[in-house]
Amino acid sequence: GAAELGPYRHYMQKEIFEQPRAIGDTLEGVQAITPELFGDGAHGVFKAIDKVLILACGTSSYAGLTAKYWLESIARIPTQVEIASEYRYRDSVPDPATLVVTITQSGETADTLAALKHARGLGMEHTLTICNVATSAMVRECKLAYITRAGVEIGVASTKAFTTQLAGLFLLTLALAQSRGRLSEAEEQAHLKAMRHLPVALQAVLALEPQVIAWAEDFASKENALFLGRGLHYPVALEGALKLKEISYIHAEAYPAGELKHGPLALVTAQMPVVTVAPNDALLEKLKSNMQEVRARGGQLYVFADSDTRIESEPGVHVIRLPEHYGPLSPILHVVPLQLLAYHTACARGTDVDKPRNLAKSVTVE
Ligand code: G6P
Repeated sequence: GAAELGPYRHYMQKEIFEQPRAIGDTLEGVQAITPELFGDGAHGVFKAIDKVLILACGTSSYAGLTAKYWLESIARIPTQVEIASEYRYRDSVPDPATLVVTITQSGETADTLAALKHARGLGMEHTLTICNVATSAMVRECKLAYITRAGVEIGVASTKAFTTQLAGLFLLTLALAQSRGRLSEAEEQAHLKAMRHLPVALQAVLALEPQVIAWAEDFASKENALFLGRGLHYPVALEGALKLKEISYIHAEAYPAGELKHGPLALVTAQMPVVTVAPNDALLEKLKSNMQEVRARGGQLYVFADSDTRIESEPGVHVIRLPEHYGPLSPILHVVPLQLLAYHTACARGTDVDKPRNLAKSVTVE
């Protein structure tokens, strides 16, 4: 009811603003990186595996895609991400030395549960879930678990569940890196420090809301939008596009920015807003030339740039600056303004934000 909403108009907005607390709770009590964060027996399991298979649906699958970048670069462990509803029906080549990781807010998604059973049926017994509901079927079915502490998520479009999943997956990355001898004491301390800083960093990003509201006015009259990201931030672009589709009903697609020239550039006109996730990382210069390709066709760029990127506002280029650059944790921060953009665009269009048409919070049938 209204009392629970406090100053917020919708649960989705409340849940976006709960993220500092949700991440803080999810990481509470993590004093050091150890396999046992994931349950008894995790040490043995982590020693027995040499690859990761991630199974999930929807927003949770984008958390998985982000984790693939972390797992391969930080833990150096080959990682495959599969949409649960596809994996269960295709011929794949099973390897018993695989850690099967399911990611699910509810722990009850039928496709993800069936994909887990399929993997087990193929002889893969090492199972771990990142899940927000401790009493769910998924937690019962998996050997190991990390329970995120997002709290109950009511908005159908997932927000705080996603960022807490990312926090859990980053911990998993560090734990696997450690058991593979790829995490020094100094690196562990540096990562833990950065994780503890997340709630404060998230607050600073949430303070960008007024600037995002101004953009949402422009977006409300559009019927299409493109989202661009590269590397670790390509999954963030996918999630930004999904949020916009789900609640504002604007058709949105995400592309890794280097792929623009292989198709989507044909769609770019002055009517096409192009949202660009521009962290200050190794791909920034490449991304800037992708942005030029958009500008040359008259596309309107809406750029979420880190403070130190030297991307300036100019005609056709709108820039909102994030307060700092967050290193590998950057996706957790960069997704937040995209959640806000979808939310405020939907509000401006007057849609039913918390209960978008045709969608369910938890899909427990195939
Ligand atoms: C539904 C929800 C999505 C969610 C997906 C997976 O489609 O509308 O927001 O991402 O299910 O849910 P899960 O509970 O498995 O994370």
